[in-house]
Amino acid sequence: MPFRRFFDRGQKRESPVVDEPTAEQTELSEEETEPVEDEAELDDSGEEPEGEPEDAAAIDWLERATALIPTGASTGSKRIEALYGDASAIGPTHYVNASGCRIVDPSGVTYIDCTMALGSVALGYAEVRVQEAAMTAVGTGNVAGLSSVREVDIAERLHAVIPCAEMVQFLKSGAEAVSAAIRIARTYTGRDIVVGSGYFGWHDWSSDAAGVPAAVRSLFRSVPFDDIPALERAARDAGKQLAAIVVEPVIERMPSDAWIAAARDLAKSLGAVLVFDEMKTGFRLTTGGYQALSGVTPDLAVFGKAMANGFPLAAVVGHRDVMEAARRTWISSTLAGESVALAAAGAVLDWHESVDVCATLASTGKAMRAAVSAAISASGISGVAVDGLDPMWLLRFADRRRETRFLELAARRGVLFKRGAYNFAAMAHDDEETIAEIESAASEALVELLEEEQGKE
Ligand SMILES: Cc1ncc(COP(=O)(O)O)c(C=O)c1O
Repeated sequence: MPFRRFFDRGQKRESPVVDEPTAEQTELSEEETEPVEDEAELDDSGEEPEGEPEDAAAIDWLERATALIPTGASTGSKRIEALYGDASAIGPTHYVNASGCRIVDPSGVTYIDCTMALGSVALGYAEVRVQEAAMTAVGTGNVAGLSSVREVDIAERLHAVIPCAEMVQFLKSGAEAVSAAIRIARTYTGRDIVVGSGYFGWHDWSSDAAGVPAAVRSLFRSVPFDDIPALERAARDAGKQLAAIVVEPVIERMPSDAWIAAARDLAKSLGAVLVFDEMKTGFRLTTGGYQALSGVTPDLAVFGKAMANGFPLAAVVGHRDVMEAARRTWISSTLAGESVALAAAGAVLDWHESVDVCATLASTGKAMRAAVSAAISASGISGVAVDGLDPMWLLRFADRRRETRFLELAARRGVLFKRGAYNFAAMAHDDEETIAEIESAASEALVELLEEEQGKE
């Protein structure tokens, strides 16, 4: 396994302890909220890892978070109810250290993380080349009153690897980048309506959450993935008001060629802009995303997540004539060109130039899926299946309560799986021992789940 040596050195590997629920944990709010690497810094010395609060183990971080942070976690998918499907679930919610594919909770227990920070980390946590590049950028001043030369350098490198990227503008989050793409498309076309398929972040233009004005909602028409009649209907209804068709080109499966071709043709014939949201597919399916794989080139695209291996960076890229509309509107953020994340992206690009990262993500994801599938078959459980694509796969439970219990039991055995969404393969999962640990944790958790259910009958 070629990448193992980059990730596993110096790790403290403790078996997870089976914690009984504390009173504080069981009294958590019942409130259901909205749906929805390399040199490990862990040391063997027994001393507190640097940066970790001295009394981290003694603190109920969830209680403190819930008291002060409105939803308990600033990232929606990291709320306890999002992690486990139940606000009173028992499982880790906070970490103090992350390295490779392993994270350490405040009590010092180590877990294999199959979720990889919502797909924002594809190499591994604290990956050494990325870390060194970031530290260099810290040391040379991560921001200044002028733009960093790194901004130009990374723009040129994205231009070289992403088919539609004749021009590039950086932002910090995925939601910002897709909002920018929509602003550019509206400016370019002089139109307002957007037809979209997928999740594009929390901003107003595509959201129907509370607080979004009805007038704004009325400008966005959501259509299902891979549904040509729905796409045609929505696009033709908008007609000469259609500014953009924006799609997540790949979700749990590849799209049909016909759907992508329909999106391309409709946008062209109606004078609208086609946008690919490559937040999860970029630097994962291929470096240049779905467009590099399919040969279908959108007018604009957005990238982020794995592009900077967890450092905050996103980009809107696209054809020159469309991107130049950015000059006629206003898209700017104080820290958009902040250079630590740009340096991290440079190290990620170095990785992609030196080895076939995406091939490893596919083969590793395949091994992870096979391991969990084997655990499901061996346990004899029904109502659970593995789905999705190799580098971004998911577990499907027919019963949500069983899913919660499985996630709790798997966490007790040292593996964190994603509830109702993607597990993301990383280079750091690429070793046989890790895959075997994932299989045995899944297997033991499923067997215990069945035994508990049989005990209740
Ligand atoms: C396809 C897609 N677009 C946009 C976003 C929003 O990105 P961010 O959460 O960085 O704002 C996400 C986040 O999961 C995403 O998956």
